[in-house]
Amino acid sequence: MSKPREIARILKSRPTLEGAGVHLNRAFGYNEIPDFDPFLLLDDFRSDRPKDYLAGFPWHPHRGIETVTYMLEGTVEHGDSMGHAGSVDAGCVQWMTAGSGIIHQEMPKPVKGRMGGFQLWVNLPRKYKMMDPRYQEIRAEEIPTVTVQGGVSAKVICGTVAGVSGPVRDIMAEPEYLDVSLEPDAQFAHPVKPGYMAAVYVIGGSGRFDQRNNDDLMNRTMALFGKEGDSVDIHAGKNGVRFLFFSGKPLREPIAWGGPIVMNTQEELQQAFDEYGNGTFIKKAS
Ligand code: FE2
Repeated sequence: MSKPREIARILKSRPTLEGAGVHLNRAFGYNEIPDFDPFLLLDDFRSDRPKDYLAGFPWHPHRGIETVTYMLEGTVEHGDSMGHAGSVDAGCVQWMTAGSGIIHQEMPKPVKGRMGGFQLWVNLPRKYKMMDPRYQEIRAEEIPTVTVQGGVSAKVICGTVAGVSGPVRDIMAEPEYLDVSLEPDAQFAHPVKPGYMAAVYVIGGSGRFDQRNNDDLMNRTMALFGKEGDSVDIHAGKNGVRFLFFSGKPLREPIAWGGPIVMNTQEELQQAFDEYGNGTFIKKAS
């Protein structure tokens, strides 16, 4: 018999200034480590004011992590030290494994006046922090939408819902990343592996995410589930609810975090910044 998990922590995303002056909302980040292990950060950059985001994220390095960009509207133009150039368009996902190092820029642009998306950071285990960089670029039509039961549909970016697996594969932390929509009063039960962290971020409507929590959680609210139990059990409010669902296997390794670089020790972090300063940061240029 399945035992649903209870919510251990609720966070409201908070206004944060990033990049060259982008106003976004951070659902969790540095202040919350290690609660969301293996995830490090979730930024919500939905905005209807271009001045909030047009400054973008000019050239900057990453090492030791994966960044996952999921766009709902608009686009992010992207270019990097490996010679990639392209865009992440509405409904698409870019799962970038920075590994030993990438220097890139990410510039959000409106389409028909609209822009919005999310960036999730997934930590890499110590033994893969210096792996070769790679991309999994997923077009909107490659992401399956699964109708689980009446009134529930889930876009499966990574993981499996009702026997349907998402297109992102071979990620070390064995994460799940779903975009789930529930119609009014619908219910969604989903299994979570023992010991894995699980969390949701509400992006529309409202709903109840455990049996205990009587208040419906609203847009821009993050809820972290406790580790006890083997499923989540979610009920939509009277206007329905849409949320991102994450789960993953905690790494339980030390974290040394400096801006866009996350290593295990201060020495590794210092080395990364030294290399960035002296032009030896990039280990694989194409
Ligand atoms: Fe970046």
